[in-house]
Amino acid sequence: MLLKADRGLRSAILKEGREYYDANSSLWLNPHGHRKKELNEALIRQLSHIAHSTMLGMGNIPAIELAMKLVEITPKGLDRVFYSDSGATAVEIALKMAFQYWLNIGVKKRKTFITMHNGYHGDTIGAISVGDIDIYHQIYHPLMFQSYVAPYPYIYRHPSGDPEETKADCLAKLKQLLETHHHDEVCAVVVEPMMQGAGGMINMPTGFLKGVRRLCTEYDVLMIADEVAVGFGRTGKMFACMHESVVPDIMTAGKMLTGGYLPVAVTMVSETLYQAFYDDYEKKKTLFHGHSYTGNQLGCAVALENLKIYEKEKTVEGVARKTSYMHKQLKSLYELDHVGDIRQVGFMSGIELVKDKKTKEPYSWQERVGWKASLAMRKFGLLTRPLGDVIVFMPPLASTEEDIKEMVDRIKKGISQLTKDVTIR
Ligand SMILES: Cc1ncc(COP(=O)(O)O)c(C=O)c1O
Repeated sequence: MLLKADRGLRSAILKEGREYYDANSSLWLNPHGHRKKELNEALIRQLSHIAHSTMLGMGNIPAIELAMKLVEITPKGLDRVFYSDSGATAVEIALKMAFQYWLNIGVKKRKTFITMHNGYHGDTIGAISVGDIDIYHQIYHPLMFQSYVAPYPYIYRHPSGDPEETKADCLAKLKQLLETHHHDEVCAVVVEPMMQGAGGMINMPTGFLKGVRRLCTEYDVLMIADEVAVGFGRTGKMFACMHESVVPDIMTAGKMLTGGYLPVAVTMVSETLYQAFYDDYEKKKTLFHGHSYTGNQLGCAVALENLKIYEKEKTVEGVARKTSYMHKQLKSLYELDHVGDIRQVGFMSGIELVKDKKTKEPYSWQERVGWKASLAMRKFGLLTRPLGDVIVFMPPLASTEEDIKEMVDRIKKGISQLTKDVTIR
């Protein structure tokens, strides 16, 4: 059964020979299920050529072919590709590019960023400087550079509870921040398109992303779309920006790029940005950034094969088609006493558990309800990871309707058991 964790993963967790549904796609990066034959074969094929040679000062065939493919499938206008090895490094590169872009075109003062409340962009110092999740980031404040934080349109927790009002309010506050700081200080606005991931699976109201794009253009700051979690079909479009026909100036992606096999990530930019770095050596416009494993052949060969599978199996179209079925299944969880909100974009969803459904009162963090619920689900043969009290449900994109039903049933059993236990205590 391809969608269940294989023996390796199973034995790493329990030595009882039990099978699990991998309901968070091994931390959001597995589109086709484990042990995909074509990916295994692509890896072996590449090994018979070469495993790795540096891309510093050289190219390699899989990396070049992959770059061409990425330009073809990403929003029109993102024509240049910079490789790295994780979502965080892709973001780090995006920040350095955005900062240096302004210097290279002769604008000297811009040195900060605007990010969204509860944003998450990885764990390196740059990435956490544009992140806004206190529990992960607070301790490192002395090491971080300053960013301005715009409110994120969290409809369930907005005083209005209304998508349109939430959107208008948050866009107005973003506009205010740009009005005050754009000219002197801001390099770029950084945003997770359509759905915030690690911040708690929070979807944007329709039109918000387009509004962010419009404001970035109006105030002449760059827009960085971090598609690390939402890219490669997770939301029912190949990239989440495509839901609103938005083209960012810089886009980061990783996670599902190699089908969950190897660490490859990309930072993609527009031609305008690229040209700002392309000059005679003496002009000192070089982006001084590189990693030992940049453009790794094994990773790029597997990524190319992965994207072939997407085409052959119509993976993204499949997500779009199955989204409403998943929605129907997830909605049934509202029957449970402690399910406050269910948020979903494509195959990316979060189930927010609350102490009191009527008042939306959260559980105290010390109770670790989300964590306990996830452990309860494990007993029913389902693997996931909570984000606070939000249960993450991010199944592999190839999951069938039958798989989805089975997984949601197990989520329901886990939550029921846990919330019963919590009430008893
Ligand atoms: C939106 C976003 N950006 C960046 C990252 C960091 O990616 P990585 O864990 O590959 O460094 C993540 C990871 O979850 C993410 O969700």
